[in-house]
Amino acid sequence: MQNSVSGFSKFTKAEKIDWLVSNHFKNNAQAKANLERYWNTDKVLQKLHDEFTENTISNFYLPFGVAPNFLINDKMHVIPMTIEESSVVAAASNAAKFWMERGGFKAEVVSTTKVGQVHFMFHEKLEELESLFKTIKPQLFEQTKSITKNMEARGGGILDIELVDKTTQLSGYYQLHVTFETKDAMGANFINSCLEQIATTFKSCSKDIHVVMSILSNYVPDCLVRAEVSCTVDSLSTKAYSGQEFADTFIQAVRIAEVEPYRAVTHNKGIMNGVDSVVLATGNDFRAVEAGVHAYAARSGSYSSLTHASIENGMFKFWIELPLALGTVGGLTALHPMVKTALELLGNPSAKKLMQIVAVAGLAQNFAALKSLTTTGIQQGHMKMHLLNILNQFEANESEKAQLIEHFKTHTVTHSAVVKAIENLRA
Ligand code: MEV
Repeated sequence: MQNSVSGFSKFTKAEKIDWLVSNHFKNNAQAKANLERYWNTDKVLQKLHDEFTENTISNFYLPFGVAPNFLINDKMHVIPMTIEESSVVAAASNAAKFWMERGGFKAEVVSTTKVGQVHFMFHEKLEELESLFKTIKPQLFEQTKSITKNMEARGGGILDIELVDKTTQLSGYYQLHVTFETKDAMGANFINSCLEQIATTFKSCSKDIHVVMSILSNYVPDCLVRAEVSCTVDSLSTKAYSGQEFADTFIQAVRIAEVEPYRAVTHNKGIMNGVDSVVLATGNDFRAVEAGVHAYAARSGSYSSLTHASIENGMFKFWIELPLALGTVGGLTALHPMVKTALELLGNPSAKKLMQIVAVAGLAQNFAALKSLTTTGIQQGHMKMHLLNILNQFEANESEKAQLIEHFKTHTVTHSAVVKAIENLRA
């Protein structure tokens, strides 16, 4: 096969790059130079990154930004955000300031239970399986003791193991549905190790049990956090609109996202701008969070908004509920220097505290988006932030940048308007 390669993972980094550039790039020297330009000169740091995954040939940077002024449960926070989208950090900072002046965010963890499952097939009588399960259940706990010992010392462990009959959905299909408390760890390795041991013990009690797989679930509706903001409707007024007008339109925007999936997806995407950027900065698994959050958003059978809003007795209230499996120990948290910095910036929070911070970041992001969408429109803010990207695309120098940023303080930013302004300046 053309361009196929064997033993690639055994090549040295230099050999990998040589093979790649000579087979996949038009300008070999430029491609190689670009990959090497992103190597870190600190050899220890580079080695650390090389060893995170296989076949690492370079690094891929994302901006590490911070959003200050987050008042959460009466304590000030600076939130680290790793994201490339230009307006996200600015929007978070604006929302933080807005709510700091109105009492701040309140957040609470509702529950912290995580889930894993042993999926298996059994084609004999249900009563037989139930009786086997009852007999072996104490041993399922007993045989995982070497794995759960440390977690139990920290107050976590296996909460329960249940036998679930799924045969109406798939012939012969059953589960051991296992619930866990993993304290400050996200717990993926812990959960999967326990499940594999449980599966081994379980299948040893009958030749009729055929284990298909054992794996944690990223759907964590019982690992839930809630964050909210509230203020009097009057305190939402500006020169441009009354508080009542603002709140009514804002609530309509939320209702639309509650009933209309096309809008809900974009609405929730804006929430995930905030959520993912903190999850990423703190070294957590954003794919797990994404999968779990969207499943939660669709739990009624129809995809819907993760945030809700109301007015009661002259008080405007806006809140979010999110399932979040996060860790502040283990995994990347102890390894990645920027993750350590992000966690220290947050005061080395517990996993519960981090759940609160992430939920607040999501709520703040949604507030900022809806505030813009229902008043000025989103493009005003977006294009202002995008201006710098366009200027960089055209390799504007510092003096050109300063002049054009000044110019666009009083002119509408569009891609073509910026291009024209650069051309005029250069002419
Ligand atoms: C853009 O990244 C996010 C928004 O589209 C979110 C929303 O529409 O609510 C602005």
